[in-house]
Amino acid sequence: MQNFILHTPTKILFGKDQIAELGQQIPADARILITYGGGSVKKNGVLDQVHAALQGRSVSEFGGIEPNPTFETLMKAVDVVRAEKIDFLLAVGGGSVVDGTKFIAAAADYSASPDAWHIMQTVGSEITRAVPMGCVLTLPATGSESNSGAVITRKSSGDKQHFFSPLVQPQFAVLDPQVTYSLPPRQIANGVVDAFVHTLEQYLTYPVDAKVQDRFAEGLLLTLLEDGPRALAEPENYAVRANVMWSATMALNGLIGAGVPQDWATHMLGHELTAMHGLDHAQTLAIVLPSLLREKKAQKRDKLLQYAERVWGLRDGDDDQRIDAAIAATAEFFEKMGVPTRMADYQLDGSSIPALLEKLREHGMTALGEHQDITLEVSERIYQAAR
Ligand code: NZQ
Ligand code: ZN
Repeated sequence: MQNFILHTPTKILFGKDQIAELGQQIPADARILITYGGGSVKKNGVLDQVHAALQGRSVSEFGGIEPNPTFETLMKAVDVVRAEKIDFLLAVGGGSVVDGTKFIAAAADYSASPDAWHIMQTVGSEITRAVPMGCVLTLPATGSESNSGAVITRKSSGDKQHFFSPLVQPQFAVLDPQVTYSLPPRQIANGVVDAFVHTLEQYLTYPVDAKVQDRFAEGLLLTLLEDGPRALAEPENYAVRANVMWSATMALNGLIGAGVPQDWATHMLGHELTAMHGLDHAQTLAIVLPSLLREKKAQKRDKLLQYAERVWGLRDGDDDQRIDAAIAATAEFFEKMGVPTRMADYQLDGSSIPALLEKLREHGMTALGEHQDITLEVSERIYQAAR
């Protein structure tokens, strides 16, 4: 096991009707800005619950944060934060709202550059202050509710990039599985696939004898395999929603990634697909991951065999057959969830691959993966094989 420091300071309020506890989590005299997306939280009553919990407090709203939140929209919220002297941000929505709010929190008082996009160019390393924030999560997927990362898109330049800062980690996250009942099937599926791939990015590398991390990861994968399809088939099954929601949080709160090598190349190749073609985040992962696993079979051999046996119960055939079967089963699972795994399924013929590679180069993504050996040439093969 590698050395690690693990600090997971987000307080989790999990379960039925926990939104009612919001008032106690935010200082009584705070000037609060609630941020939200395109309106799902109005339709499903979540925003009303939030207002009820914050009755009598200083509260204003900023709506309209889009999926794959844009710099352009978020800078408008930054203006509101400055004008209204907001000192607490409450994100109410999915990963895009939470990520966008992290950017607002950092950009509101950013001194390293007059251009807040500098935050992305320096991956958050020059953030020295941020408005404190918390969140009410409505879509289990990204893990953003209890981590320090965010992914932001700049429309004008076609960039989708990430940044990290401990200063934007939510102080608390309210996770009420009931609020996920209103999710359309496509977003339920996206969430399950995203959480599954987050787990694999931290698990399918090479062994470092990290038994706890491995078995936690396998537990998350098995839970998502079992309850992902059930979330689609039984949309109001509370236990199923609770297990999916907690899996997604645990998949990216730092726990399973502590002390183990991590890959993340699937995500980096996927972000370029979203930036260029507007695909949902999870759709890009479903396209890239199976292709990447086939390309990196040799380097990931030991963990792929462990994955085949412990997650898929594959014990017959030789090593190569079991590895191939595990990769095929992974792609079938995504398909079964309703997330296709080929570019062609999204009307992409591969003609944009040179442009995607150029964007990877521009973003410094030229040595990816746990061995930093996914060069642009390797990325090209991964994209080509995913057509
Ligand atoms: O905008 P509204 O109207 O709220 O609708 C949203 C949106 O259209 C809807 N939705 C959310 N909760 C709902 C609901 N509809 C009905 N009922 C509910 N309870 O779902 C749609 C998608 O929402 P979005 O927030 O975009 O989805 P997700 O949570 O998958 O977030 C995706 C973003 O997170 C980034 C992705 O790149 C992408 O930009 N990621 C963030 C990470 C992180 N911070 O750690 C890691 C991930 O790998 C990922 O990259
Ligand atoms: Zn993801």
